[in-house]
Formats: sequence, C-alpha cells, structure tokens
Amino acid sequence: MVTDFYTYEPRLGHGLAHDPFNAIIGPRPIGWISTVDAAGILNLAPYSFFNAFNYAPPIIGFSSSGYKDSVRNARESGEFVWNLATRALAEAMNSTAATVGPEVDEFALAGLSPMASSVVKAPRVGASRVAMECKVADVVQLKSAAGVMVKTWLVLGEVVMVHIDRTLLKDGVYDTAAARPILRAGGPTGYAEIRPEVMFDMVRPK
Ligand SMILES: Cc1cc2nc3c(=O)[nH]c(=O)nc-3n(C[C@H](O)[C@H](O)[C@H](O)COP(=O)(O)O)c2cc1C
Repeated sequence: MVTDFYTYEPRLGHGLAHDPFNAIIGPRPIGWISTVDAAGILNLAPYSFFNAFNYAPPIIGFSSSGYKDSVRNARESGEFVWNLATRALAEAMNSTAATVGPEVDEFALAGLSPMASSVVKAPRVGASRVAMECKVADVVQLKSAAGVMVKTWLVLGEVVMVHIDRTLLKDGVYDTAAARPILRAGGPTGYAEIRPEVMFDMVRPK
C-alpha cells in the first residue's frame, strides 16, 4: 500500500514544476482534425483532448481550449475529418500545431497533400493510413461543477465514412500496432508510439 501521496487541489495550483494532469491522463490518442472554412481555406490541427464516445452510431470528439479555427470551421460547416497520426507523420503532425491565422492552410505549411473525402468537404491527410469523415453532432461549451462557463468547446461528430489502409487489416482484424500510432504522453514534449511488443491480450469476464 502506498502511504506517501503528493496531494493537491487543482483550484489552488499543483505546486510542481509541470502540471501533472495531462501526463497522468496519458498517453492520449491524437485527434488530427481537418476542416475547411466558408472561403474554402483548409485547416489541420492536432487535439489530444480527443477520444471515441460511442459505438453505434460511432461518435468521436475533440476538445479545444479556446475557440480555435478547428471548432469554428467544424461548427460552421458541420463537418470534420479525423486523421490517424503515426510515427512516420509525427513531425508533420507537430508542425500543424503552429499558432497561425485562419488564412494559413496547415496542409501546405506541413508539406502534406490533401486527399478528397467521400462525403464531407474537408479533405483528409493523404499520407495518413486511416481517416474518418464526420458530421458534427454537437458542440458543447464546457462548464465547471459550479456551472461557470469555461472557454473550452467539445466538438462531437458522427463518423459517416471510414478509410483504412488495407495492409493494416489482417484476416479482417484491424492491426492497431502495425500502423505505429503515436499518442501524447507526459510533460510538454512527450509522446508514446504503439509498437507490437507493448500490446497484450485479456479476455473480458462474462
Ligand atoms: C500533440 C498536440 C496535441 C494538442 N492538443 C490540443 C488539445 O487537446 N486542445 C487544444 O485546444 N489544443 C491542442 N493542441 C494545440 C493546437 O493544436 C494548436 O493550438 C493549433 O494551433 C490549433 O489549430 P486551429 O486553430 O487551426 O484549430 C495540441 C497540440 C499538439 C502538438
């Protein structure tokens, strides 16, 4: 049993060199989100406050600290695309996080080719091995337990089309590790890469 805990109340500050919150809730999958604005300018940005929330219909969501271009475009167009960030695309993904104006196309900034989606206007990252086209289901502004509005928006989208590099399908089973997905992990610069050797199996109790 652990007897010596470092305990803190977030509202009073963590008192550490770096806020451990993100590092503890990690590694987190990366929502690499492409959108398009009303003028047709492409946008691409990573969001690690990202996850899947429902099976049927499949719903995924990302959360933006501040009303960023991805939220505005998703809300206004009603669409976004999620792209899988892999080790091979890590540096390109990172460069799309640059704080630039809405007039800047981050595909061009990162040297990535956009690829037309099937049903939504926003293109996907051509070099990404998996992509999900989404229709916005909800945009929720978060609030605290006391009901105070927070300047953070959670964008939820129903997945309406999925594209998978066929080589990632082994006898009909999607091979998560084969894609070498990257995840955001501790500290300001940490990432994890999923490789086959870190995987293990466990059968659920009936
Ligand atoms: C790996 C990674 C994860 C990020 N996760 C988030 C996040 O969850 N929420 C957020 O608001 N910003 C996040 N950022 C920062 C945004 O990507 C950055 O602010 C970007 O400029 C937003 O682009 P946009 O205005 O085109 O949407 C992250 C950056 C990186 C590199």
